[in-house]
Amino acid sequence: MTEPLIFELSQPGRRGVALPPLDVPEAEPLPAEFRREELPLPELSELDVVRHFVRLSQRNFAIDSVFYPLGSCTMKYNPKVHEEVARLRGFQQIHPLQPVETVQGALAVMFHLQRALAEISGLPAVSLQPAAGAQGELTGILMVRAWLRDRGEDERTVVLVPESAHGTNPATAAMAGFTVKAVRADRNGNVDLEHLRALLGPDVAAMMLTQPSTLGLFDPNIEEIARVVHAAGALLYGDGANLNAILGKVKPGDCGFDVIHINLHKTFTTPHGGGGPGAGPVCATAALAPYLPAPIVVQQGDRYAFHAPERTIGKVRAFYGHFGMFVRAYAYICGLGAEGLREVAEHAVLNANYLRCRLRDVYELPFDRICMHEVVFSGNRQKQECGVRTLDIAKRLIDYGFHPPTIYFPLVVEEALMIEPTETESRETLDRFIAAMRTIADEARTNPELLKHAPTTTPVGRLDEALAARRPDLRWQPHREAAERTPPGSAH
Ligand SMILES: Cc1ncc(COP(=O)(O)O)c(C=O)c1O
Repeated sequence: MTEPLIFELSQPGRRGVALPPLDVPEAEPLPAEFRREELPLPELSELDVVRHFVRLSQRNFAIDSVFYPLGSCTMKYNPKVHEEVARLRGFQQIHPLQPVETVQGALAVMFHLQRALAEISGLPAVSLQPAAGAQGELTGILMVRAWLRDRGEDERTVVLVPESAHGTNPATAAMAGFTVKAVRADRNGNVDLEHLRALLGPDVAAMMLTQPSTLGLFDPNIEEIARVVHAAGALLYGDGANLNAILGKVKPGDCGFDVIHINLHKTFTTPHGGGGPGAGPVCATAALAPYLPAPIVVQQGDRYAFHAPERTIGKVRAFYGHFGMFVRAYAYICGLGAEGLREVAEHAVLNANYLRCRLRDVYELPFDRICMHEVVFSGNRQKQECGVRTLDIAKRLIDYGFHPPTIYFPLVVEEALMIEPTETESRETLDRFIAAMRTIADEARTNPELLKHAPTTTPVGRLDEALAARRPDLRWQPHREAAERTPPGSAH
């Protein structure tokens, strides 16, 4: 039976609030031109409203309720103590236009976070400003562009990007006005060094590289890659969104990266997804430090102040960045300490390899080698032998109570199933997930139709995702007949 929507529960005269008698003069209502005569607001009791919103919240898949192995997104548990710290009055109630003297504590958090990220990345200069990973990438590439212009190297118009890269990498390079050329992967999933050497020339500005890559693989040739890129007069940009895997183990600066961004929301925890919030600080070498976006926080004696680097590319967003996330990230780093951060990387890698070893006999593993924080399988076998697609496997996982992994990415793997368990999941959870994945592989053989119609246990069944994206139907319309409304399971 279809659940009634909140407007349909409305009963004339029912109230959810009891206001005290008016003890101030009655105000004139809004002028008529600003009012709608017909405004069919639902009339409900408080209980109706509470049930409605709790029911909606329970339909969400969230890291606080289910295992969420969405590859490349690092949906790990966000400790609640960070929320408490970010909500401390002194942090929560300050205003970005307050005089700097009155927000010294906030500046101290930003300064020490900059220092911690410099230590972790091995790159000395840090700006916290960018609002997300993608914006951090754009910031870094604009810094590269400004650096090249100052050197009179305007002829460097090409940015090299491995074919397995996250889509934001080529998009960033194109937005910054560069031409993008793809670098092939070799048969082990690493950068094809021969192809890279062939592409490098006097027109190349930079290479953008994700380490470990979106295939979940650590490229062991990283020092050689940095060497040949630098020898060609170009810079090496690091997409540090996968830093979770190497925290405290490998410093990108030591590998030869000139500038990287870090996804605070992924690596250093903040509830994210569905578009926000994010923070993508940029860490750079001393040579690129003058180009960082302004302002950065500096220490002057026992005070903290904002500073604009001399060749700054300017501001990339309003004010100073997503301050609440800085507090969470700093709390996370201080809470774990150096040893704890190393353990994060160890457990993230251990968990991904546990899944790799326990599922490789049922799902094809395109790169059968030790992986980092995520493992990329392929649903090719199930497609060829049973006519079931990766999409069907992912949808069936919902019936077993798991958020699906990332699918059809990276593009270099056919029918890709990209699983990132993260370090915060227990062995028991991983075992339940493995059992579900193995059962689904059996079902693909014995009852492929079941998978093709999954999920079968959710309030809304299989969506036509293209139609849902192109013609979203998001608004309840009061006068539309119930029969006209799309029934669950159909294409809206
Ligand atoms: C490898 C990689 N690069 C870049 C990004 C972009 O980060 P954001 O979504 O914060 O813009 C992501 C996002 O998860 C990513 O996984």
